[in-house]
Amino acid sequence: MIRKVSVEELRPGMEVVRLSSEVWEHLPFLYTRPGVIESSSEVEDIRAQGYLHAFIQVGEGGEVMDRRLDGLVAGPDGTAVEVPPPRPRVPFEQEMEVARVTYDKAMHHAKRIIHDVKLGRKVDYEASVETVDAIVNSAIRNPDTLLCLSKLSDYDDYTYAHCINVAAIAVVFGEYLGLGREELVRLGLAGMMHDLGKTAVPSRIINKRARLTETEFAEVKRHPEYGCDILARQGEVTDDVLEAVRDHHEKFNGSGYPERLTSRDIAPYARIISLADVYDALTSDRSYKDAILPNKALAIMYGMRGQDFDPVEVQRFIKCLGIFPSGSLVRLNTGFYGVVYESNPSLPLMPKIKIILDEDLRPIPAELVDLAAAQALGNRDLEILECADPASYRLNLRPYLTRKG
Ligand SMILES: [Fe+2]
Repeated sequence: MIRKVSVEELRPGMEVVRLSSEVWEHLPFLYTRPGVIESSSEVEDIRAQGYLHAFIQVGEGGEVMDRRLDGLVAGPDGTAVEVPPPRPRVPFEQEMEVARVTYDKAMHHAKRIIHDVKLGRKVDYEASVETVDAIVNSAIRNPDTLLCLSKLSDYDDYTYAHCINVAAIAVVFGEYLGLGREELVRLGLAGMMHDLGKTAVPSRIINKRARLTETEFAEVKRHPEYGCDILARQGEVTDDVLEAVRDHHEKFNGSGYPERLTSRDIAPYARIISLADVYDALTSDRSYKDAILPNKALAIMYGMRGQDFDPVEVQRFIKCLGIFPSGSLVRLNTGFYGVVYESNPSLPLMPKIKIILDEDLRPIPAELVDLAAAQALGNRDLEILECADPASYRLNLRPYLTRKG
């Protein structure tokens, strides 16, 4: 469908279409150059040139589409990457209570197994399965809660939080891909233990701030094999988990390590873990770098398609997390700020949000808004303009997401 909009309504991502000349000749201030609006400055230019209207492409239901997403949601042959039908979910606020406990317990467990392995003890495999089982249950009930929590973890605990975040993100993605319950538990175990081999690398190398020497880097690159050996000695870890740990730094184009495997030769769970690993590393604060905003991290990862990642798999990952992943702070066209608490895979620009701050960043009574439902009711007044960085405003989003109301 095509809709006429005023230039004031034009937004990046909208596709301007050119109609037959009989229509636009009678509208002298009509902007007619066909194509996708790429940025806000392009909109500013169009406005400055005095144009008043444009015709844009909208969906069958009249919804505004962001055509910048086309590259992200289409397969290499141009066909759309299919989205599994949405499953019934437990409401976010209800699941958050449980997910928070699950996440905190999992953090304790991660600390324990890393500590045990450092001391040469066995990993408590039964407790590990129990921990991941709870993560899987939570992901099935409501995946957004875990994604939010993964973005709220403390910087001091990065090593442990990273194990749990990778497990949680991998499980959420695996669930989205339609993996069965047992498979999700094995995927989660591999995610939680993917870097266990780092305990076998001397800590002076792991903690070194300066650039690593070639020999030191070669030693770091052995951690997937070390991890696989540690777990293989347990005797109870399944082969698919071992393979995932061994292959988690292999890359689609064969430039990874340790075996320089390519594409489908890389173990399937390892390919999922590698996506979760990179996403969590990019979006986490570290002592030597600030976190990158989730939507920017996904754009960077999209740029790594065909090199680090299978192009179709990275697109599915982006589709699963959404353009505004759960836990993102967003600025609205009203000037107010909200936190995304539930993504919307079929309408990625219209997630559910909790509006929490006014335009001066003063807290306001939280208001829950489902942008897709509002739009379906004809309310097109509210929309997300951009992601905002909570760190630059010294904001801690955790209380906003974990408390009711
Ligand atoms: Fe690793």
